[in-house]
Order: sequence, then C-alpha cells, then structure tokens
Amino acid sequence: MTRRLELIATAAFGLEAVVARELQDLGYTEQQVEDGRVTFIGDELAICRCNLWLRSADRVLVKIGSFPAFDFGQLFDQVEALPWHEWLQVDSRFPVSGKSVRSQLHHEPTIQAITKKAIVESLKRSYERHWFQESGTEYQVEVSILKDQVLVSLDTSGAGLHKRGYRAHGGGLAPLRETTAAALVLLSYWNRERPFLDPFCGSGTIAIEAALIGRNRAPGLSRNFLCESWPQLTRLHWKESREEARDKILNKPKFPLIASDIDDRVLRLAETNTLQAGVAGDIEFRPMDVLELKTSLEFGVIITNPPYGERMLDDESAAEIYDDMADAFEPLSTWSIYVLTSHPGFERLFRRRASRRRKLYNGRIECHYFQYLGPRPPWEITKDDAEPVANDDESPTNDDQHDS
Ligand SMILES: C[S@@+](CC[C@H](N)C(=O)[O-])C[C@H]1O[C@@H](n2cnc3c(N)ncnc32)[C@H](O)[C@@H]1O
Repeated sequence: MTRRLELIATAAFGLEAVVARELQDLGYTEQQVEDGRVTFIGDELAICRCNLWLRSADRVLVKIGSFPAFDFGQLFDQVEALPWHEWLQVDSRFPVSGKSVRSQLHHEPTIQAITKKAIVESLKRSYERHWFQESGTEYQVEVSILKDQVLVSLDTSGAGLHKRGYRAHGGGLAPLRETTAAALVLLSYWNRERPFLDPFCGSGTIAIEAALIGRNRAPGLSRNFLCESWPQLTRLHWKESREEARDKILNKPKFPLIASDIDDRVLRLAETNTLQAGVAGDIEFRPMDVLELKTSLEFGVIITNPPYGERMLDDESAAEIYDDMADAFEPLSTWSIYVLTSHPGFERLFRRRASRRRKLYNGRIECHYFQYLGPRPPWEITKDDAEPVANDDESPTNDDQHDS
C-alpha cells in the first residue's frame, strides 16, 4: 500500500531552486521551497528514487511533524503525540540529533534529550512496554528548531548524498563537494551534445558529475542508504527503482569531456575517481597549464573552479591566473564560460563582466558563480529549450546572449 508522505530534500543555501527542479523532473511537482530545503509529496518509492537520483540535494528526510514550541513542555507533548509507531518497531534504535537557530529553546543537548524521552513515552503506549532494547533497525531522528518552529523528521539517506562512492581521497586538494559540482553543471547550458572543458579540474569532480549527467546515470547507484533496512520500504521498492536507474543510463555523450590541470598528481587521483564513478571512458585528462589551452571545437561549455584566495593561494597569484584565463579563453568566442570563485575581484581581473552571477557556498566559503553566456549552438536553435534551472541570479546584465 502506498502512503502519501511529506518528504524533504535538504540543500545547501543557494541550491534550493536546483533541487526543486530536479524533484520536478523526477515527477514530484507538489512542493514547497524554503531556505535550505524543499518539502514535497511522495510515497515510499519516492524515498528510494530521490536518494538514488538527486544530484544537488544533501539528504532526503521523512517529515514526521512540525509545530511551534516555546518551552520544553510544549516540545515534549507535541513530539509524544506524533505517530511514532507507524515508523519505529519495538526494537528500533533511534538516536536523536537536534539543532536550534534563533529560538527560545536553544540548548541542543536538552532538545535532544526531551525529544528522545517523548518518543519513548509514545512507544510505551503503543507497544505496552516499559523498556526498549534498541537493538534493531536504525532510524535517525532529526529535530530542528528555527524561529520557534519545530520540524521533526527521519533521515533516510545516512551518509550525505554527496558521498557517491567514487571519491578515493580528497585530501588537501580543496575538492568541491559532489553536490555543488553537480549543481554547477545543472545551472549551466551544458548538455551531452556540447563539448565540455574544465581547465582547473583538480580531482575531477565537475567533469565526473557532468559525465554522470551526460550518461543520465543516477549518482546514488553505487552506494547504499540508511533506510534500506527499514521494513516500510520493501525489496520491491529498491529493485524497481534501481532497475529504473540502470535502464535509463545512456550511451556516451557526443564529445569526450576534457579535464585538465597543471598538477600531474591530482590528475592521477582524478583518473582513479573517474574509474570508480563508472565513467572512465567519457573523460580525457590532460596535464596542462591553462595558457596552453587550444581547441577547434565550437559551442562548448567551460565549467571550472580555479584557485582562489582563501584556501589555495595568495591574491597576487590568483590575479595572475585570472589574467591567464582571460588570455586563454579569448579565442573561444562561441563558448559559454562558468566560473566558481570566492575572489572579490574576479570580473575585474578576468577583464569581463559576467552575464549573470549567483551566490553559492563551497562548504563555508561564500563564492560567486560567474556566468558568461555564449551564443546558442545552431543545432539547438530550433529546439524549444527551457532554462537550465529557474535562474534566480543576483544580477542579470544585458549581454545575456543565450536568450537572444
Ligand atoms: C580549486 S582547485 C580545483 C578543485 C576541483 N574543482 C576539484 O573538485 O577537485 C584548482 C586547481 O587548479 C590547478 N591549477 C593551478 N594553476 C593552474 C594553471 N595555471 N593551469 C591549470 N591548472 C592550474 C590546481 O592544481 C588545482 O588542482
């Protein structure tokens, strides 16, 4: 029997619209977008499908309830009143994690303890027991309070969805989160018919996420999720959604994706990651300084994350690299260029004003995604293509050629 469930896909700030669009494409159109999350309606199968398919979301949660609470008594009573027996079995383990922002209830350890106690009370009534061993299936309870509004949910993902299972080691190289890299591609006009290039590829995250998108390969296909042991989701749900994901994989994109970097060592790591991601044949890695960049291909898309101040190098070297980028990209008049950097002087140093820019976070670092839109490829002009994502950017400027 399918249930109408309220589900939540959590997202990094700035990526909510990307996640909402992904959910829409998966068929989940009844949705509400808020800071850091998209709430949507789905069923048990949706939990499996969204964990497997969402590229830019952090986690998938099941919403158990939400209510206002201004003191611990209110928190206790309302958590106790939720239908816990519909989810937790008599022997389930249910660790609770809590967080609170700008609320009267702010001591997180107490929020967790009260929530736990209220769930135990609720289960005592449902199962007519006084004591629970908690040796069975794990359900991670999340209680988050924002401006006195409590949201109680169960995490279905376990490890965050950025853990695709392909990254060997990221150590010390400032790799982008997989979810952020996927969002950069989804925010761009790249598609499997167009050349792709990342000339500062590092461990290859953007190219790998583009290759997965190019193949229409579900990013979670090589990993497991916390809710796989839940009795609410049957083996049939998982079989059906994994089969669907395997059936939808496409053959190679038209052009090999090109990923280059000046550092041989990171390229070896990138190659290992690509192999693990199952897209080894789709990406060509080249050891190369950005200044050596040459291509006869047209209407391609560059999506890149060059070094920037805070983590990678000093301002003077960043300025030099952005100047080199300006020279290297100059001949690519038909290409669209997308650059993620936290450097405040990027546009000046790159000597071009972006058609659009959008604020995004790379971990905790505030960045901007600078978008330079080239002309539309002639083979796409007859197609009635939609925007990549509702692009609620900060500053559209009138040199936005792609829409002309
Ligand atoms: C911020 S990291 C890119 C991280 C990458 N997005 C990832 O997820 O791993 C910047 C990369 O630029 C490379 N780099 C620095 N100077 C370069 C140059 N002049 N030409 C090409 N690559 C360069 C560095 O070796 C580093 O791997």
